[in-house]
Amino acid sequence: MERLVIAVDGPSGSGKSSVSKETARRLDAVYLDTGAMYRAVTWHALDAGTDLSDAAAVADAVRAADLEISTDPDLESVKIHGTDVTEAIREPFVSEAVSAVATNLEARAELVRRQREIIAANPRIVAEGRDITTVVAPDADARILLTASEEARMRRRGLQLGGTQSAQDLQRQVVARDAKDSTVSSFLIASDGVATVDSSDLDFEETVQAVLAAVTAQSN
Ligand code: DC
Repeated sequence: MERLVIAVDGPSGSGKSSVSKETARRLDAVYLDTGAMYRAVTWHALDAGTDLSDAAAVADAVRAADLEISTDPDLESVKIHGTDVTEAIREPFVSEAVSAVATNLEARAELVRRQREIIAANPRIVAEGRDITTVVAPDADARILLTASEEARMRRRGLQLGGTQSAQDLQRQVVARDAKDSTVSSFLIASDGVATVDSSDLDFEETVQAVLAAVTAQSN
């Protein structure tokens, strides 16, 4: 089958993961969730008692990480040093600590290297994250930035603007985390040659169709 590398970036809550997975299924491609790799090495560093403020120790832990990630869009599985962390990496304590890895340039270089290896080994792949269109696979056949308004992103997380105090606190955390993430690699504005799909007013199927249309437009 013809080679087809699709890079998708965007903030969380844009529908990036579910839309990328479905795009992979429809194009008979595999799927790579690079955020899960950042989460898994963070989980491991915490589990091993690594001092997350020690940048050299974090980078060493990432380089030594024995990480296995499924690329089957129908099988979510992440293992680190043999431990299945598929569920654990979604816990809030991981989300709160992950920027220690995501802002560590040596750790990023190692994960980018591994992501490129996975992409090279899979001729048809949808890879999603924050720096796929710009750093990991700038030469992908199709590059897409999936965005959504802040309001739409909050809504998808079950958070309403102007909700209760705890909902507002959560909302502030999410906005702060996105802002922190975007200082490492800018995923809020599309770089040259990257198609923007704004999902704010689209349902799931419409978003998948818009992504598929962008893939066709760019890869032909
Ligand atoms: O998409 P996510 O929430 O699972 O990502 C987890 C964290 O990893 C988040 O802080 C952003 C970061 N990340 C990154 O810096 N680069 C990527 N390619 C993917 C994720």
